[in-house]
Amino acid sequence: MRIDVAFTPSEIDDSRVRDRIIVVVDVLRASTTITTALNNGAREVIPVLDVETALKMRTNLSAELTLLCGERNGRIIEGFDLGNSPSEYVSERITGKVLVFSTTNGTLAAAKARGSREMVIGSFVNLSRVVEYLSGRGDGDATILCSGKQNTFSLEDAVCAGMIIDRLCELKPPVLTDGARAAQGLYKRFGRSLLSLLNSCDHGKYLASIGFARDLESCAAVDSVPILPVLVDNTVLKMLQPQPPTGGGAADEERTGVKSSA
Ligand code: MLT
Repeated sequence: MRIDVAFTPSEIDDSRVRDRIIVVVDVLRASTTITTALNNGAREVIPVLDVETALKMRTNLSAELTLLCGERNGRIIEGFDLGNSPSEYVSERITGKVLVFSTTNGTLAAAKARGSREMVIGSFVNLSRVVEYLSGRGDGDATILCSGKQNTFSLEDAVCAGMIIDRLCELKPPVLTDGARAAQGLYKRFGRSLLSLLNSCDHGKYLASIGFARDLESCAAVDSVPILPVLVDNTVLKMLQPQPPTGGGAADEERTGVKSSA
């Protein structure tokens, strides 16, 4: 496998996602929240770019089944049911629900990855599942797409990308691009204490300043949510089984009757 890292969504266009596996990383907090939500019983997560689309979707879907979720400037969007804190996504609230999800950077990155061969969501909380998945994907090329912040670099996403690459190198060494080598170097430099990293990075400090310091602990907890979210037909589902080492179908998804994304 040849592996690359895009440090912001602006580096990505159709030609850089086509025929590739894309791992979308938004450590703070969209990747972590989506992973937590699917682990705690959400039926599916539909990433949407803007608030208007989310509101329209609610009118088309069953109101009982649907929750509008997401943030702007880190805070819940007016009129929405849930924000973007992983702590809000408890089973009692979300089991069986379809989450229409819009965040500032994470859902933008997911939208950029739509033309890819396969797309999965990565974060510290499901890191080993991502590594296991990539190591089973044979010779396919992969790009780790860091969500960043408004198309600028975010250290926590780059370090997470580097940690995925570092673990992959132990299992099944891929060919690394310059971007992948740089991310691995950042992981080695800043990855010793992930909580310190999240407390000291720009977005972590911002989240703490608006009352979400506890989220940083959840987002730093490596392998605490050991599932793999995968995009299937514009919807993110929980992948059930580890993958066979071929370029075939993407997933055995939890939603019945859904075909794989490949
Ligand atoms: C985003 O997508 O920009 C975020 O996940 C922001 C946040 O809520 O921390």
